[in-house]
Amino acid sequence: MTTEKSSRFLILYASQTGNAEWISKNIHQEASERGFANECHVMEELDEFDLSKENVLILVTSNTGDGDPPDNATKFFRFLRKIKSKTFLSHLKFTILGLGDTNYTNFNNTAKRLEKRMIELGAAPFYDKGLADDAMGLETTVDPWIANLWPELAKVCVQKRKDNDFQDKNLIESIKTLSVNGKSENNEKSLPIETPNGQLVDKKMNIVNGTKIVLDLSELAKAQQLTALPRIPTVICKIIKSNEKRTINSSTPSFLMNTPTPIVNARLEAVRCLTHPEALKRTIHLELDIKDFQEKLEFIPGDSFGIIAPNSEKLSLEILKTLGIDENEINQEISIESVEGTELPSHLKNAKSTSIKELLQYGVDLTSLPRKALLRLMAEYTADEEEKKTLLFLCSKQGTTQFIRLREQVPTLLDLLVTFPSCKPPLERLLDVLPSQQPRYYSIVNSPLVNRDLLQFAFNIVDYKTPDPYNTRKYGVCTPWLDNLSGYVKERNERIPLTTKINIPIFMKPNPHGFAVPADISRPIIMIGPGTGVAPFVGFIQHREQQIIVERKLNNIEKIFGEMWLFYGCRDIEKDYLYREELERFLEHGILKELLVAVSRAPNAGLNGNPKYVQDLLRKRGQEIYELLDQKNAIIFVCGDAQGMAKSVNDALADILVDHGKIKKSDALKLLVQWMNDKRYLRDLWS
Ligand SMILES: Cc1cc2nc3c(=O)[nH]c(=O)nc-3n(C[C@H](O)[C@H](O)[C@H](O)COP(=O)(O)OP(=O)(O)OC[C@H]3O[C@@H](n4cnc5c(N)ncnc54)[C@H](O)[C@@H]3O)c2cc1C
Ligand SMILES: Cc1cc2nc3c(=O)[nH]c(=O)nc-3n(C[C@H](O)[C@H](O)[C@H](O)COP(=O)(O)O)c2cc1C
Repeated sequence: MTTEKSSRFLILYASQTGNAEWISKNIHQEASERGFANECHVMEELDEFDLSKENVLILVTSNTGDGDPPDNATKFFRFLRKIKSKTFLSHLKFTILGLGDTNYTNFNNTAKRLEKRMIELGAAPFYDKGLADDAMGLETTVDPWIANLWPELAKVCVQKRKDNDFQDKNLIESIKTLSVNGKSENNEKSLPIETPNGQLVDKKMNIVNGTKIVLDLSELAKAQQLTALPRIPTVICKIIKSNEKRTINSSTPSFLMNTPTPIVNARLEAVRCLTHPEALKRTIHLELDIKDFQEKLEFIPGDSFGIIAPNSEKLSLEILKTLGIDENEINQEISIESVEGTELPSHLKNAKSTSIKELLQYGVDLTSLPRKALLRLMAEYTADEEEKKTLLFLCSKQGTTQFIRLREQVPTLLDLLVTFPSCKPPLERLLDVLPSQQPRYYSIVNSPLVNRDLLQFAFNIVDYKTPDPYNTRKYGVCTPWLDNLSGYVKERNERIPLTTKINIPIFMKPNPHGFAVPADISRPIIMIGPGTGVAPFVGFIQHREQQIIVERKLNNIEKIFGEMWLFYGCRDIEKDYLYREELERFLEHGILKELLVAVSRAPNAGLNGNPKYVQDLLRKRGQEIYELLDQKNAIIFVCGDAQGMAKSVNDALADILVDHGKIKKSDALKLLVQWMNDKRYLRDLWS
């Protein structure tokens, strides 16, 4: 390893939903302004960089699935895996920024794995890795990590300008404005700037106005100075207008076509409500007709598919109105280009021949938690001094608590704009910072052995209230849209064919981890899937039933099929036991050996040893589970909620290994990790 400073450095990122890409491009931009020569690439572009020629490397990566690398890191991981020489990267100094989420058990697993592999190949860290947590807000870790990166980078890399010379003019101006607090008396008490209004969304998702965000500005009144403000986001996007009116000839905008598998428009065939009207959450089962696309849509139980769901039209239009965009402009044909010397974010790269309305509905995310960069950008376009100060306060170190309060209220872009009415950013600038709209994924419920022409799936309608004292009603993007399209059915368990022709843009997402009925039919299968986590297991059991039928037809001698156990959980057996008829029939017909149901709100749940959740049921049947695992090479599948359930199930399995296998807890946990690697303990988790 050389002690000389490197003349440049390389940033490689891997990103599933755009955060790592956004952060990496910001590091790239700021580094260039600070006088560091550098390049920035996505990890999968192996042809664009050569690690043997680099001396300093910054890696930024997020996670997907169960601590897995994003799709655009797969090739890079394979490349690193294949290297045999332990000194291959000994010329390289590196650091890593991981973006994760503590709601998932394998927190920042990708960054940790990557660091380990880099060190195995001889590379040496020059700066401690950062592990950011989406649950807390990525900025909490990312911003100080980047701020402290510069002096460390300067030790290993040539900097053509002194940091003192690097001054962001706008940043300094903002700070100056903020040192004045003439109105402090008015702000001293902890007052919300507006009371919340929970009635701005009507029952059928008609978003009429935004909801003003409740904030306590007493800390702002006391602050002499606001520090650690993010940089003003770089100007990237240019909207190029044509005078043509955009004619929509497909239900999916063409700029979205870079999905991993082709998008097809599947027709909504039928709907069934799986829950009682009084159930706490409404769960809907939908069927899509895919017979015209069988070649493109091959699937097996365990696979999922993506739905391209638009942002609510009303929300998009209201935002455009609030921004003062003329109604005549919104359907006009436009394309997005980058300002010279910048690069468009990947989700806008193909945004040619589209319209403003289409971009807002399909291109950008209008509802997920805002980044500080958005608030920072909004401040630049806010005429009212008090509003501007508040926006800058929210993205400063002094405003950390209020930024958390703001996140608790899950504001949409419209909520932000109505809270700061003098803020009128140009749409182009918003495109610079808004994240990309993400497809929503659903596990396939049916087996193609039963019906290849249909894709069935089940989902809870996302409809909740923000916590006290805000109590604002909030809706998801995709599930209320699907509920609307399928007619808000109420009748429980009645299959209602849909006669109106409604097409939904979808694409397949095969499960990358072998989360599927095992090829070896003799292996027992332990399935754990409370709530909608049961979805793929209905397909597993259907699949097995068909395998048995075929086997019986073909052979006289019956093959031994491994036992199937299902651990299911619901709140109320009468109201939200999903697919009860199907599951009980499978049990009756002996396809399922055991169907174990934990009912968490049953009067005796959790009392006197009565199980409340699936993990309690697992412990209760620990001896038998252990025997299936130890003597019959059973496979464990877990599906559903990544937040609490997956961890509790993991703990229960470890306890079973301790109690019945007589091993230490630490060894049991290690064994479970080993089983995950060996694909005999498979998890498909979402939050
Ligand atoms: C591989 C995979 C398979 C999946 N399979 C299924 C499936 O089979 N069935 C299924 O239902 N889902 C499944 N999901 C989840 C699904 O993709 C969507 O995330 C979900 O349906 C919500 O979509 P939405 O657009 O309606 O809500 P969004 O607009 O995405 O809103 C959801 C967000 O709202 C917030 N939120 C929701 N409830 C609350 C609350 N009570 N308090 C505070 N915030 C809240 C959370 O931030 C949450 O992330 C799967 C996900 C993946 C990755
Ligand atoms: C489906 C899904 C699975 C995830 N799995 C994990 C995980 O196992 N461990 C973790 O730390 N974070 C996990 N995350 C969180 C992401 O790493 C985090 O949200 C990150 O900010 C995403 O960055 P990106 O937009 O660059 O992909 C997951 C997120 C999603 C949406």
